Amino acid sequence: MNIIVSFSGRCGGNCDAIAKYISSGDDCLLFMRELSTQPCANCSYECMSGPCKYRDDGTYAFFEKLSLADKIFFIIPMYCGNPSALYFIMNERCQDYFMQNQSQYENITKKLYIIAVYGNADEYPDFLNLFARQYDFKNAKEHILGLERHKYKQKMKDFLLDAEDVKVKLNIFTGKSKTQFPS
Ligand SMILES: Cc1cc2nc3c(=O)[nH]c(=O)nc-3n(C[C@H](O)[C@H](O)[C@H](O)COP(=O)(O)O)c2cc1C
Repeated sequence: MNIIVSFSGRCGGNCDAIAKYISSGDDCLLFMRELSTQPCANCSYECMSGPCKYRDDGTYAFFEKLSLADKIFFIIPMYCGNPSALYFIMNERCQDYFMQNQSQYENITKKLYIIAVYGNADEYPDFLNLFARQYDFKNAKEHILGLERHKYKQKMKDFLLDAEDVKVKLNIFTGKSKTQFPS
């Protein structure tokens, strides 16, 4: 079973549509906006020495679920030059899980694949590198796919999946198609 997570704040946008497009069979589709949105705030860093005071809000259970997946796909939109706040909230809250389950970090990150949705790589050349640095992927190209709206002359209201090339890229990236990306 693969777990596919949309980090968009908007229901039914590009990230959700891509999540649905790449899912099949018994895959588990999750929308971070419906899971925990409790940021690391109003606490005394309890997670450093014991359970996070918000542990039961679903974030810890989310990481337990990830540990059992075959592959994990995070679909992350760019908001104001960075990954959406929903991504950062999850990212900070992961400390509670990994402090208790250190061996799971490698297990989870080696099966993690990022699909990043944004406007233009020329304008934001470092966006994809942010994920490469964070997870220290051995082969970043295998783990990170950037989808730029400007390549398809799309505006905010357009849908990336309307471009056939985007479907081809997703099929290759997710392993639906056996073709390799040109190096
Ligand atoms: C608050 C906000 C800020 C955004 N900032 C950027 C940006 O800096 N650069 C960019 O390329 N796109 C930006 N976008 C556009 C989103 O990346 C784009 O709409 C993307 O498709 C969002 O995913 P969605 O379609 O799943 O909602 C922004 C969107 C929002 C809502």
